[in-house]
Amino acid sequence: MAKPSKRPRVVVTRLIPREALELLATHATVDANAADVGYTPAELVSHARAADAIVALLTDRIDEPLLAQCPKLKVVANVAVGYDNVDVAAAARQGVVVTNTPGVLTDATADFAWALLLALTRNVLPADRYVRDGRFREWMMMEFHGAELAGRTLGIAGFGRIGQAVARRGRGFGMHVLYTNPRRVAAAIEEETGALFVDKATLIAASDVLSLHVPLTPATRHFLGAPEFALMKSSAFVINTARGPVIDEAALAQALSSGAIRGAGLDVFEREPAVDPELLAAPNTVLAPHIASATTETRTRMALMAVENVVAILAGRPPVNPVTPA
Ligand code: DGY
Repeated sequence: MAKPSKRPRVVVTRLIPREALELLATHATVDANAADVGYTPAELVSHARAADAIVALLTDRIDEPLLAQCPKLKVVANVAVGYDNVDVAAAARQGVVVTNTPGVLTDATADFAWALLLALTRNVLPADRYVRDGRFREWMMMEFHGAELAGRTLGIAGFGRIGQAVARRGRGFGMHVLYTNPRRVAAAIEEETGALFVDKATLIAASDVLSLHVPLTPATRHFLGAPEFALMKSSAFVINTARGPVIDEAALAQALSSGAIRGAGLDVFEREPAVDPELLAAPNTVLAPHIASATTETRTRMALMAVENVVAILAGRPPVNPVTPA
């Protein structure tokens, strides 16, 4: 009679890059979702119930009721730097380690914040539609005027790795860079990025472009809402590649349609994948389906990093990227 397998069992909740699945398969029995469609909560429980590890995506809600039904679970490796989808405190109470993927997506995310910023400030989407609609009949002097960036102020809320990478790019574009953060960063980082530390109110009032890079926590939910939009320049642009709920989406739609601010570039939404219909109808927006980290290289590195954390913990080694409860 065949002996029962001693190999640990790992659930992968959504299709991830092949390299990461191959690495995992050399260490564990893998129950991988072959589709790039998330499990329902009930499906997730049924797959995770007997698992030693879950490789989770930001679309999975890893909460106390789920954890309580997974008695063997040792690790939840989130394939994202953000981990607001995981109840880290509940996991810690159950002795489950949570890990994330910091660092490997910094440049891809900063690049995409700039892609939104440039598309928005230089009218790339309306111009593209104009050409495709056959309306480009002759060169025009007075159409499609955008906003110039050199000499303007780039405000960055959240000055971790990604905020700093956005700042460096801003410096390259000749912008003045301000930042706010719970703690002032080291003088060497301020010098290298050219960024000046200010409080939130100053950042909001002074920014010509305000880019958000804060994690989603109770303190940052609706970091920008009606009171903040009222304080911004009417010529200002907002960029969000962090998490949707850091902006009050209804207040943003109102600020855009009333002209309280000039535009918004958004990769994330308050109730993803739903988008407030008023925001869809608002002028001067560039919208994307949460793809800031979506380069082949970065998504592969993220998945490999999550798997490396699983492998370390299942082998009794410390995790590479543990997340600690707040
Ligand atoms: C993250 O890592 O938190 C992003 O939102 C997805 O790459």
